[in-house]
Amino acid sequence: MKTKQVIYDNYFDLHSLNKYSSVMALGNGYLGVRAAHEENYTGQTRGMYVAGVYNKASANDTSDLVNLPDISGMLIEIDGKIFSMLEGDVLSYQRALRLETGELRREFIWKDKTGARFQFVFQRFVAKNQLHLLASKVTVTSLDQPARIKIITGIDAQQTNFGKQHLIEESVRVFNEEILQGVYQTTETGITIAIAASIHAPEGSRISFSAKNRQLNAAIVQDIEKEEPFVFEKIGTVYTSLEIANPESAGLADLEANSLLGYEALLEKSTSAWQEFWLQKGIEIQSTDAFDQTAMDFALYHMEIMTPAHDERFSVGAKGLTGEGYKGHVFWDTEIFITPFHLFTEPETAKKLLRYRYLHLQKAKEKAAQNGYEGALFPWESALSGKEETPEFAAINIRTGTRQKVASALSEHHIVADIAFAVVQYFQNTLDEEFMKNEGLALLKETAQFWISRAVEEGDKLSIKDVIGPDEYTEHIDNNAYTNYMAYYNVEQALYFINQFHDADEQFVSRGKDFLNCLYLPKPNENKIIPQDDTFLSKPEIDLTPYKQTQGSQAILLDYSRAEVNEMQILKQADTVMLLYLLPDLFPKEVVAKNLYYYEEHTIHDSSLSKAIHAIVAARCDDEEAAYRFFKEACLIDLGPNPHSSDEGIHAASLGAIWLTAMFGFANMSQVAERLTFNPKLPKNWSELTFPLTYQGRKLTVKMTHEHFEITKLSGPDLDIEINGREYRLSDRVEDEIKK
Ligand code: BGC
Repeated sequence: MKTKQVIYDNYFDLHSLNKYSSVMALGNGYLGVRAAHEENYTGQTRGMYVAGVYNKASANDTSDLVNLPDISGMLIEIDGKIFSMLEGDVLSYQRALRLETGELRREFIWKDKTGARFQFVFQRFVAKNQLHLLASKVTVTSLDQPARIKIITGIDAQQTNFGKQHLIEESVRVFNEEILQGVYQTTETGITIAIAASIHAPEGSRISFSAKNRQLNAAIVQDIEKEEPFVFEKIGTVYTSLEIANPESAGLADLEANSLLGYEALLEKSTSAWQEFWLQKGIEIQSTDAFDQTAMDFALYHMEIMTPAHDERFSVGAKGLTGEGYKGHVFWDTEIFITPFHLFTEPETAKKLLRYRYLHLQKAKEKAAQNGYEGALFPWESALSGKEETPEFAAINIRTGTRQKVASALSEHHIVADIAFAVVQYFQNTLDEEFMKNEGLALLKETAQFWISRAVEEGDKLSIKDVIGPDEYTEHIDNNAYTNYMAYYNVEQALYFINQFHDADEQFVSRGKDFLNCLYLPKPNENKIIPQDDTFLSKPEIDLTPYKQTQGSQAILLDYSRAEVNEMQILKQADTVMLLYLLPDLFPKEVVAKNLYYYEEHTIHDSSLSKAIHAIVAARCDDEEAAYRFFKEACLIDLGPNPHSSDEGIHAASLGAIWLTAMFGFANMSQVAERLTFNPKLPKNWSELTFPLTYQGRKLTVKMTHEHFEITKLSGPDLDIEINGREYRLSDRVEDEIKK
């Protein structure tokens, strides 16, 4: 295994504080902590989140992923003056997130106004081997003269979600002059959260405690000599009533068992767990540009820390556990962009993500019924209860003072088929009949039932009217190609699996067959373009160059109203191209290529879900140059120079799509009809790509160059596979020469 990459932040810059807080966030799927600096800066958003801890601040609101009381903040005083990097001089500075160990480390030398120099080292991690544990360590060394160091830190419940307070402070306590504990309860969902921190002050220091205004603090003071380091450690635990009846005592017991081990020993254990992760799931890329490997490692790191693999009651929010963007809600992003990584590396996790939907099937049926449909209509945005969580209105338009209605909950129904698609993918990968007979079939049938009732007769065909496809700049349209083809796929697969598992329900089967016979499926026109919907191709076009240059910012909405954008051929993100990605065999390659170029020209890529999907389709169309360019641009969404785009959290789906591009674009893997196939399209800049796979109970390793393809089976029975159109039986290893 190559050493995993390091994400650096080389300058202290107020503009990028919040971006790096998201990018360098720590976590383990249970807990996520933003990488806000220990000391406070105006505008810096701190954040600590636990998967599943949602709350509504008021009856008219939708749920927020609650920003929990903070334990990372510290007020540091040197000789009575509050330390800030905004004062004095920062002489050398580096912040690094080591993906190999999951540790965040900030190191710098700082000169105060009198010219005295101090070396600071801040370290912290969220344990990968213990869901509830996090730790930090501060080392301050005075380089020129003796000094008095004071640190005030504790548990700060003044945190809010952009001003909304979700927690009642139930109790704050100090145990044994060493452990602080705060217990809180969410106001609407009634979840108890117990946060504890043990304070390991240096020998000879003085410590005092205080509790005021929702802040429980310890103050540690020590006089140090020149070059004598002041070392302070803080070990924390977080438990909630979602997973344990008595979170208060669990947190304290955990601290007792762990905190004496100290920061470094705990880090070592967590690092071992990270190394195991990289060994099992890491991808190796030999590229002319080392950034490609960095972006891939970064994507895998974040997919791991965003996924609550420990508990099927929760799923992945659009920003993972790194920020409050989209209020921590779960979208189709999970099934289409994130689940595949888990499916092909640890199918059990993919199953849990599908079980999350299954557990909320009843709520989805209620939503369908409320809207006059049968079957299950999953919410466009979901959280803890499984009810629709999409806010009714978008942000206020400050020119008109009015709020624009968000139509997604009413019409962005493709999520129903996206979930069904993920169920089929899961089965193809695992052949898990137990799951399919129970959860899988239930999900497929109820989603299929929804589409059957959703379609309306128009002459001799069925139409699906008034929807929003993946392209959210085009609303209230009829027969969106993506939606119709995916709905068709949904019903077709439901019928197939009903037949496979002898679960026939005559009436359902006959209605399903009628649906498949009559559903209108938009065909390519005389120019081979598949109409995105009934009216799209007749709408006027404008030059999108300026908006493409500022993509991701939705700048078009400053020049045109949403209604105006709706009446032009403008896409926010991949729509028909998304369909061609998911169902690559629907159309001949020539049609796929034509549509890729046509729609890309009209796509601003204002959504982060767009670029990598174009990369995959371009790779399959043998447009190596475009594929690699789109891939690079997708990698820059969180890691690029734009300091604001990740302020409210990383872009979970886009990170998933980086992995998708390597797998389904460059390695060009497919598992259609339960058979694993590869038809590699390695970019010129990559000389080698190596990755692990879990497929139908086998552990595999795949390695490819431009000339050579090699797949090795590490465990499990023989397997029939296909490489570059040639069939092989994989016993131990298969090699294939790639002929250009
Ligand atoms: C995109 C959706 C996506 C959501 C959450 C929106 O901007 O248009 O496709 O599901 O963000 O990531």
